[in-house]
Amino acid sequence: MSKTVNIDWNNLGFNYIKTDFRYISTWKDGAWDDGHLSEDNMLTISEASCALHYGQQCFEGLKAYRTKNGDIQLFRPNRNAARLNDSLRKLLMPEIPEEKFIDAVMQVVKANEHFVPPYGTGGTLYIRPFVIGVGDNIGVKPAPEYIFCVFCLPVGAYFKGGMTPCNFMIADYDRAAPHGTGGQKVGGNYAASMQPHKIAADRGFADCIYLDPATRTNIEEVGAANFFGITKNNEFVTPLSPSVLPSITKYSLMEIAEKYLNMKVIEREIPIDSIDEFTEAGACGTAAVITPIGGIEYKGKLHVFYSETEVGPITKELYRILCGIQFGDVEAPEGWIYKVK
Ligand SMILES: Cc1ncc(COP(=O)(O)O)c(C=O)c1O
Repeated sequence: MSKTVNIDWNNLGFNYIKTDFRYISTWKDGAWDDGHLSEDNMLTISEASCALHYGQQCFEGLKAYRTKNGDIQLFRPNRNAARLNDSLRKLLMPEIPEEKFIDAVMQVVKANEHFVPPYGTGGTLYIRPFVIGVGDNIGVKPAPEYIFCVFCLPVGAYFKGGMTPCNFMIADYDRAAPHGTGGQKVGGNYAASMQPHKIAADRGFADCIYLDPATRTNIEEVGAANFFGITKNNEFVTPLSPSVLPSITKYSLMEIAEKYLNMKVIEREIPIDSIDEFTEAGACGTAAVITPIGGIEYKGKLHVFYSETEVGPITKELYRILCGIQFGDVEAPEGWIYKVK
């Protein structure tokens, strides 16, 4: 490592830390410029920017991992590029070529490599790419200009305690509409999730779990992570719904469950009334990694899966293999790992 920073790597939470460089590129007159690294973490934009009024913005979240031998690597950044472009298309924003996205991420990680936590601390460098509609505009229509920015910060566990079971409650509210933007990573979904999250947190839950907004009978996902359950028959089951964000971690776990653990993998509706079919359950995502779900409160009753204090054996195995791949200790499927050079 070239520079050093004064950070307690073993006690990182999920809080903003200003790192040295971020990448900024601007779209004007029909094209993205080459982009550059900046030391300034402030953006100056028009008061009439579409992102500020009409939520024309979207973002991504991925991580850089330090391996045992000190290398730095990314986990499936091409999938984040594809998902960002899906969000961009949905909000009529200009797409970003995959090479430009990955180059921006690489530049930012390289420039901030002294902020990538050491191997073995459990910390990672969280990378936040985002695109906002900017420029002078007051009607509800796409912005005349766009900013693509990528910044990063060292993080620890998203849910307190990391790989220890957390309890969740079923939300009385929806984060997205049945044919809305639930499948895209756009700010409006998260704005809608803040009040339900607060209600859950005030009652001592880690977060809430949303039901499908059309019928409110099937499990959708957690505020910032997908849901999976393990059945008595050793199946990995996860909700299939257009209003769930397609989690890269979830699709990776599906492949891991199938190829490494010989499990049957099923994407289908998961009625809230049949959660007793699961012997284990978890929330998965880049930030959450795998957070075991101790229990879910629904209609005033707490349904416990494996245990409120112990982690189930399949969840443990999935976690070991996923993190092993991400930190370079377990051989990854072809194309999953991108080395930062
Ligand atoms: C609503 C929501 N669902 C699921 C996820 C997990 O997705 P991923 O595994 O790609 O991080 C996230 C986090 O990105 C999220 O915000």
